[in-house]
Amino acid sequence: MFCFFQRPRLIAAAFFISVAVYFIFLSLHDDFEDYVKVPFISNLLPTTTTTTTPSTSSPTLIENAHTLPSADAYLPHFRAVTSLPGISLAEAKAGCTWNDEQGVNFMYGGDADWVKKERNDSELANHRAEWQAFITNDLMPYDQYSSRFSGRGIAVVAGNERTMKRVKVLLRALKKLNSSLPVEIHFFGDEVPPSTQKDMLAQFPGIFFNDLSSKTNIVQTGFNYYLANFQFKPVAIMNSRFAEVLLLDSDNIPAIDPELLFESDAYKEYGTLFWPDIARTRPENPIWAITNTICRMDEYEQESGQLLVDKHRFFYHLQLAAWLNNKNAAYYNMFLLGDKDMFRFTWHALKTKYGKPAKWLTSVGTLTEGKYCGHSFAQHHPDGRIAFVHGGLLKQIPNEVVKWQREERGGVYQAYKRSSVDERHGEVEKCGMQWDGGDYLPEERRNGTLPVWMCIDLYDVEAKPITDVLEGFESMFDEVGGYWMLNE
Ligand SMILES: *[C@@H]1O[C@H](CO)[C@@H](O)[C@H](O)[C@H]1NC(C)=O
Ligand SMILES: *[C@@H]1O[C@H](CO)[C@@H](O)[C@H](O)[C@H]1NC(C)=O
Ligand SMILES: *[C@@H]1O[C@H](CO)[C@@H](O)[C@H](O)[C@H]1NC(C)=O
Repeated sequence: MFCFFQRPRLIAAAFFISVAVYFIFLSLHDDFEDYVKVPFISNLLPTTTTTTTPSTSSPTLIENAHTLPSADAYLPHFRAVTSLPGISLAEAKAGCTWNDEQGVNFMYGGDADWVKKERNDSELANHRAEWQAFITNDLMPYDQYSSRFSGRGIAVVAGNERTMKRVKVLLRALKKLNSSLPVEIHFFGDEVPPSTQKDMLAQFPGIFFNDLSSKTNIVQTGFNYYLANFQFKPVAIMNSRFAEVLLLDSDNIPAIDPELLFESDAYKEYGTLFWPDIARTRPENPIWAITNTICRMDEYEQESGQLLVDKHRFFYHLQLAAWLNNKNAAYYNMFLLGDKDMFRFTWHALKTKYGKPAKWLTSVGTLTEGKYCGHSFAQHHPDGRIAFVHGGLLKQIPNEVVKWQREERGGVYQAYKRSSVDERHGEVEKCGMQWDGGDYLPEERRNGTLPVWMCIDLYDVEAKPITDVLEGFESMFDEVGGYWMLNE
């Protein structure tokens, strides 16, 4: 979600300093419990045959590995992946020839320490060797756990009172869309007491709960009381009762029945759907070389507000994503923003292509007296329809502004901006963050001075009426109780 500024201001600088401090803090407070390792049955791996010519004994990469039918079918491929010679940071970087002057919206600024002073190849080689050792020695065998998973369903990570209120909105939206997918809520420890679970079950029969702190989980994780708990998502997918999991953020409202995603050609071929974020990954990012991947200009960072994955096929891949995000989070969070890109780079590391919609995200927001404020991302079904409206920035717009927009302008879902190159991913789209201070709000509607809030903007495209691409979303959002926060 975080975007780099075209026109930095003092407040922007303050924001990025606080983001930097946050990550320093994260790295200093790595109190996550150790990822529980179950010894891997290494004889699951085909035994190496001794031959005289090294060329025939080295395993070969499977070109279209994403089509392999089962988790265990990947094991020979992993042997090839972990035998690949490591690439250097210079080699990885050479794949991306863009720079800051072109206005590329990179996730991290040029002032990140690993940009100013690039990481050396021996550091990268050590981290590469670490995940390769994990893949070789520490994977939990699929057949030991496969009986725990069945069917398709939605997994949501939630817990505190506010996220549970959002979950209720999500559940009502799913009901309105006649979705028959079961939903499982993952929380940690005493966050969702039995009384709350009972209350939720009375309102929404058939939902499931899973306590991620329970020792019965396949993969254990820890809770951090001070920080965003980035590590929960891959762990929730791994521990989910479903075999095919749609992971959804609690503030991500489906616009179509999400079951339709499972029927898409992209999901059927790749067994995954990963959605794009607004920013790009810098060429200097150490993750490219650590995962033996040449920097790609046709790729965005990943937005994990929604993610679809088939555990029948990717049970081992997901273990690596969880490993990067838990035991090794302190290191990787210096250059990846939590859970989201750990999935994408796990697939890169394991030389497996992932499924994705053809369309980059569409920004959705308000248009007030010519001023556009993108507060949500619309994400697409592979067939091009809008599938989700993820309100990442909606929650920081002051209530009095939301109330005024609803009373005077029909709601907050008014306009959209879609890049003219949204299907040509190698081209640079001009986008970034803007601040809104509600200058347009009449004096009598303000309560003193409004705080400023962040909006997304696409600088070189015109805002158009939302009804061109999405019918009835505002009224649906209202009907399912999306405006609960106005009563606080
Ligand atoms: C590489 O970087 C690490 C720190 O990340 C440092 O300890 C090591 O001395 C460096 N090696 C070389 C050859 O510069
Ligand atoms: C859901 O089902 C009801 C009853 O069959 C129907 O009236 C409604 O149009 C359906 N909604 C959607 C979004 O398909
Ligand atoms: C106005 O703002 C003050 C301080 O921010 C707050 O305590 C008060 O409840 C607000 N009043 C209304 C009517 O929103």
